[in-house]
Amino acid sequence: MTTTILDKLIARAETGLSEGAICSDDLKQPTWSLDAEDGQKALPAYGAGASQWDKAPAATPLQRQIPARYRQMERTELDRRIRSAKEALGERLVILGHHYQRDEIIQYADLRGDSFKLSQQAASRPNAEYIVFCGVHFMAESADILSGSTQQVILPNLAAGCSMADMANLDDVLDCWDTLGRIFGTNSADAGKQPVLPVTYMNSAANLKAFCGEQNGIVCTSSNAEAVLKWAFERGERVLFFPDQHLGRNTGVKLGISEAEMVIWDPTKPLGGNTLAQLQRAKIILWRGWCSVHQRFNVAQIEKARKDYPGVRVVVHPECPLEVVQAADEAGSTEYIIQAVEAAPAGTILAIGTEVNLVRRLQAEHPDKKIFCLDPVICPCSTMYRIHPAYLAWVLEGLLEGQVLNQVKVDPKVSHFARIALSRMLAIK
Ligand code: 13P
Ligand code: SF4
Repeated sequence: MTTTILDKLIARAETGLSEGAICSDDLKQPTWSLDAEDGQKALPAYGAGASQWDKAPAATPLQRQIPARYRQMERTELDRRIRSAKEALGERLVILGHHYQRDEIIQYADLRGDSFKLSQQAASRPNAEYIVFCGVHFMAESADILSGSTQQVILPNLAAGCSMADMANLDDVLDCWDTLGRIFGTNSADAGKQPVLPVTYMNSAANLKAFCGEQNGIVCTSSNAEAVLKWAFERGERVLFFPDQHLGRNTGVKLGISEAEMVIWDPTKPLGGNTLAQLQRAKIILWRGWCSVHQRFNVAQIEKARKDYPGVRVVVHPECPLEVVQAADEAGSTEYIIQAVEAAPAGTILAIGTEVNLVRRLQAEHPDKKIFCLDPVICPCSTMYRIHPAYLAWVLEGLLEGQVLNQVKVDPKVSHFARIALSRMLAIK
């Protein structure tokens, strides 16, 4: 079988030729080793990579084994089939790729972007009958919500979820909302403002976006969290922010809200693990969720980068913990990081705190700059990693045969309210 870039990285790490080790030996297993055999339950894991140790909820969609011929196919054959299916489908197909996808997938993307850009792009190709989303489940749901009613969205591997998104579910959020309603009531103390306004990060299930749509709330991404929180505080006395505590906290601090005015809501504890007085003081109630990829970054890595490379510019994603964001030179979304690298003059040294596939791609695309991942261990996002060329070839050839495999379809009522919350976000400049 042809060797991929990731295979090479893993081999180099194992022989000590790369700067780091690999985070899990499971990376050497084929992606489909976790898929459900007929009549069997798949393993309750997300797969090899940074979020593999987070527990996958029972409701996580299962990916059934794809036909053996795809699993056994040489990469060159998969490549030939994917390209030929793309050509045959022409304008009827658009392939979207998130920046964290491996190179073996991103090469086929017609459009690539971060979750904000992709949500806009999904709406910008009304003529494409099929949107094949090489990203994760919540992104495919958002594409379905924002695309036309005749367009069909496909996720090549249904088990490509997001462990952070899975940390908040509708039942737990409704329990929290109920408790907050009993504490703060429904009438505003501050004229015209709602006592609590819900804000969900893009990385959440469609039914949570719908909940925000119904409750006068909104969606945000890492590109617009600051503007969205400002919008929310014009309409609410306090904000319930889920599921990523780090993006919420980092953005709150940017807006001048002190850490003492932000509390964590742990859904397994009464009052979310807070006292009544703590909740009454809070401006932002942060859900106890995190991204296992970005939580790997720490201040010691930044100190080491500064010691090893004096003058290094440290750029991290705002899903990283507050102390990491504060120790870095800059923090911004995936798209921000790419633009920062592109705009940097030749010879700049950049240490990046985000997913390894993107960092490796930036490295390859900018040989005139020294670019490295803050984390020396090779550790991709385990759920993005579930998209492999074999699944892509399988869904594309399915389309050629008139079969829509792995369609992601959001319930119309959920879609209606989720679109309201997403549209509020898209309207913010
Ligand atoms: P952005 O795409 O908004 O930068 O978020 C990163 C991420 O973790 C996507 O899942
Ligand atoms: Fe989810 Fe983090 Fe992976 Fe993004 S990088 S899909 S937030 S686990």
